[in-house]
Amino acid sequence: EPLVVAIDGPSGSGKSSVAKEVARRFGLAYLDTGAMYRALTWWCLEQGVDLTDAAAVAGAAAALPLEQGTDPDREVVVVGGTDVAAAIRGSRVTDAVSAVATHPAARAVLVARQQQVVAASGRRIVAEGRDITTVVAPDADARILLTADERARMARRGLQLGGEQDAERLHRQVVGRDAKDATVVDFTRAADGVVTVDSSELTVEQTVQAVIDV
Ligand code: CDP
Repeated sequence: EPLVVAIDGPSGSGKSSVAKEVARRFGLAYLDTGAMYRALTWWCLEQGVDLTDAAAVAGAAAALPLEQGTDPDREVVVVGGTDVAAAIRGSRVTDAVSAVATHPAARAVLVARQQQVVAASGRRIVAEGRDITTVVAPDADARILLTADERARMARRGLQLGGEQDAERLHRQVVGRDAKDATVVDFTRAADGVVTVDSSELTVEQTVQAVIDV
């Protein structure tokens, strides 16, 4: 039986942990669309593509040799034979990804790929990102906007990155990136039919429950 769950939200809202856990509980595939934008960014940096050149970035997206897994228990992100699962989480990619994601033609290429992944799953998937509820899968069975206040989002991202975090860099990578991203896709408020779950005061388990309730 098909079950498409679409989850959007800002950085540090807990999207990834929650989406993966919901996928496990229901035996669904899992698609991290942010990893696709990150993989494209890594590839553009690798190939020396000018990130401000919309046509060049769209060309790179169309030719992106990406192999991405959909198992919530095993992350696979390989670009041109290189395992980039760790590299795409580094500062170099994080600081550049929003610029890549601003180009509509490149987005259209990735959105089409994401829709292919949803179809290939037999429409049994949890997909997360910024535009899943509105663009990638507006017809999803459950559509959720996962939010959290700035304090909670910064704290979570700081924990995720581990160790001593430079406060200014963390702020740039969470709040600054969200501000840039929101000018491209408005994920700051729920579209019609999308249910908002605020995770600021919730544990991961409570957030998973709230999503399952939806
Ligand atoms: O690390 P974080 O969870 O904050 O972000 P992510 O989900 O890995 O997404 C990385 C970046 O990809 C975002 O900052 C956006 O610029 C872009 N993105 C997007 O534009 N649309 C999506 N559906 C997913 C990600």
